Parts: sequence; structure tokens; C-alpha cells
Amino acid sequence: MSEHAELADWDRDHFWHAFTQMDEYEPLIVDHAEGVWLTDTQGNRFLDGISSMWCNLLGHRHPGIDAAIREQLDRVAHSTSLGMSNVPAIELAKRLAAITPGDLQHVFYASDGSSAVEIALKTVFQYWQQCKNPRPEKTEYIALDQAYHGDTLGSASVGGIERFNGIFGPLLFDVTHLPTPDPRRLPETIASDQAAEYFLSQLEQVLAERHEQIAAVVLEPLIQAAAGMVFHPPGYLKGVRELTHRYNVLLVTDEIVTGFGRTGRMFACDHEEITPDILCLGKSLSGGYLPMAAAITHPEIYSAFLGSSTSGRTLLHGHTFGGNPLAAAAALATLDALEEEQILATLPDKAAQLTRHLAKIEQLPHVAETRQKGLIAAIELTSTPDGNQSFPAELRVGAQICKETLSRGVMLRPLRDTLVIIPPLSISPEELDLLSNVLCESIDKITRQVANTLTPSP
Ligand SMILES: Cc1ncc(COP(=O)(O)O)c(C=O)c1O
Repeated sequence: MSEHAELADWDRDHFWHAFTQMDEYEPLIVDHAEGVWLTDTQGNRFLDGISSMWCNLLGHRHPGIDAAIREQLDRVAHSTSLGMSNVPAIELAKRLAAITPGDLQHVFYASDGSSAVEIALKTVFQYWQQCKNPRPEKTEYIALDQAYHGDTLGSASVGGIERFNGIFGPLLFDVTHLPTPDPRRLPETIASDQAAEYFLSQLEQVLAERHEQIAAVVLEPLIQAAAGMVFHPPGYLKGVRELTHRYNVLLVTDEIVTGFGRTGRMFACDHEEITPDILCLGKSLSGGYLPMAAAITHPEIYSAFLGSSTSGRTLLHGHTFGGNPLAAAAALATLDALEEEQILATLPDKAAQLTRHLAKIEQLPHVAETRQKGLIAAIELTSTPDGNQSFPAELRVGAQICKETLSRGVMLRPLRDTLVIIPPLSISPEELDLLSNVLCESIDKITRQVANTLTPSP
């Protein structure tokens, strides 16, 4: 038996994979990687078009990040953040305070995005109990339909994807979910340039009625990623900030996907020049190298937690690996590389290149729409020329297309029949051409094949 075959057996027998039906699982085992390229145990190379689940920011085995982790390893791999500190986590907190919007400057570390959202939810709740003018009746949250904030019970409660959370409904707490502010789902009477206003009026209605009970609005700013890369209308985020200020409600933004340049600006909040009350970061924070996340807040919230140890004001929350020095060293090296390699300055050209590819993809007969912000793009399929009909879900056309791209050396992962491109920002123009061309050809081939099997409606 080959080494790969043995590993594949152990993988199937013992490794229960995330969001994976193990009955259908076909092992693909990464052995090593370099830049945007992954190599499996059989020697196949794949372009990592999903940034290893939306988190690898500057390529695999980035020399600066690798060196920083090695250097840190010679000092200390882990120390606790409970009542004590470590050098890279301190330096990182200071750097994050400098680059995050407005006066956000107090960083609470976690190890994954879901936990960062839990921290935000608990901070908000406790804040209203003990702030200068306590409002203990403010205990409720507003979130968005189709939102995804993680898989722990708190983060799932503010999530809105029924197929992920439906079965756990009885375990979740009540949250008011507003309709996804998706400009494609406007009533016919509303013009597209009134989309933000329309969705904001729904928020305002709830706030006007119940702001006394509402602690915070929680949302993914600009792009709801797991929803299928749904883009909010311009002006929506700014409007949410204005309304939350007006009604004395906190705003938590989850930039776990959108953070660190993927949308073309450092943070999605920067596009609309807003400062949330709590900003959640994860995934790309450590360059996508090591588990690290954070919830960052401003002095007004932070100061509500200050007092003596017996005052009962302490935020009683913590994660064993929060502020891990190896992860913090990786994060610092990621910020250095973003600056030194002027990554944000390289993005407009790459984004324009991607726009040109999407324009070509949009010409395909079974593509209804493409969307793009920075280096995040989504492609919607259609089974009919008018673009109004989806392929039957059970055909899993998105998955079939990604299987085809994989056979051509490009790794992608669809969100149902929405195809998603979210490569490391370090992708070269040639690699971006390759990714886009392979995807374009694969969409064309598979959608034509599938469409031919469908009986035309009478
Ligand atoms: C917007 C958003 N928030 C939170 C999370 C949860 O992060 P994690 O998987 O690190 O817990 C995700 C994961 O994809 C996400 O997309």
C-alpha cells in the first residue's frame, strides 16, 4: 500500500472533517505549499483560489512570516494571557490599535473567529449592565438573515443561515433577524438607488420600537460571505452606524473575512468611513498561518470594565491560546509584509484584471451575474437564458464546476451554486489569469453539460 493510500485510509477512518459528509468524502491531503500553490501527497499541484478557507493572505511559506515564527519559537511558543503578557501580543495590540478605524484600541484575543464574536456579544451585554448610565434592560441583539458569524452557540444565534443552524434552533437565544440587505431582493416598487434607504428603514422601524431593549446590531460589513458573497448596497453600513448612534445601540462589525485588504481597503468599515463599537478580526489576522482572532473596542466600552478585582466589573472571559506568541509573531510579520510589499497599492491593478475576467465570464450563457469588491468575487449561475432560474439544487452544479477546476489544477469551493474567488492577495497576474481562465472554461463546460440533461419547461 502506498503512503498516500495508507494516509487516505486513516483520514477516512479517524479524521472527522468540518462541514463534510464523511460518507462522500474523498481524501485530498495537502503535503506542502509555496505561494498560492498547494501540493498534495500524490504530487498534484493546485492553485489555492480560496486562500485555504478565506484566510491565507500573502501566500503559503511567506519567507518573512516563516522567519518570524521560527524566531519566536526560539523564545517561547505559548504563555497565558490570563493576568500576564508576552512581547509579540503586546506589539500586535499596539499595531492593531493604530490601523483599525477611529479610536478602537483595546484588543481582546481569541483563537478563532467564532470566539471573537462570542467575546463581542458578551462584552456588549456586560457593558450595558455596568456602563456609566447602566441600561440592564438592553439585552437583545439585531442581526441579519443569512449572516454567518461562526458555529459556537452565541455566534450561531446571531447567524441566520437556516441550513447550518436549523437543527440547533432550540439551543440558540432569540435574536431579531432583519432581511438580508441584498439589492437583488428589492420589491419592484423600489429603485436600485434606493436600496440602502429601503433596508435602513426596516432597521429603523425595529430600533424605533425596541431600542430600549436592544444592546447591539451585529453584522458583516459590506459583504455577507457565507451567505454567498452577498453585497450590501452602498451607504447601508454608514446608515446603520448613524441609526445605532441615534438610538443608543452598539454596533459590532465582523470583519473576520473582509479584514486586511481583501475588499481593496484595509477594512470594509474604511469604505464607508465608520467606526464600530467592537470590531471582530480573525482568519487573515495571522496571515492565515495560525489560529488567532480578536475583538477590538474603544475606551468608552473598555473603561466600563475597570475597577477593583472585587468590583465585579472584570470581563470574565478568556481562551487558553488567546494572544499566543507564535500567532502574534505571524500577525506582526503579516502587517510588516503588507506594508513592505505595498500590498494594498498592488490591489487596484489586480482587481481591475479580475474585473476584466468577470466581464468575460458574465458572457457565458449560464452565468446570471458576477459581483466583485477588491479581490473577492462571486459568480451566480442560471439554467435559463433570462437569468431567472437556478439549476436544481440537487444537481450541485457549483460543486461539479469546482471538481472540474480541481482536475485542472485550481482549488475552489462554492457556496452552493455561487462560485467564489478569494485568492491570497499576493497572487501574481499570471496566476490570476490562470485561475480565471480555468474557472471560465469549467463553468462553460459543466453548465452546458448539465443544461443538456434538463428537460425544457413547456
Ligand atoms: C464572517 C465570519 N465570521 C466568523 C466566522 C467564524 O470564524 P471561525 O471559523 O474562525 O470560527 C467566519 C468563518 O468563516 C466568517 O465567515
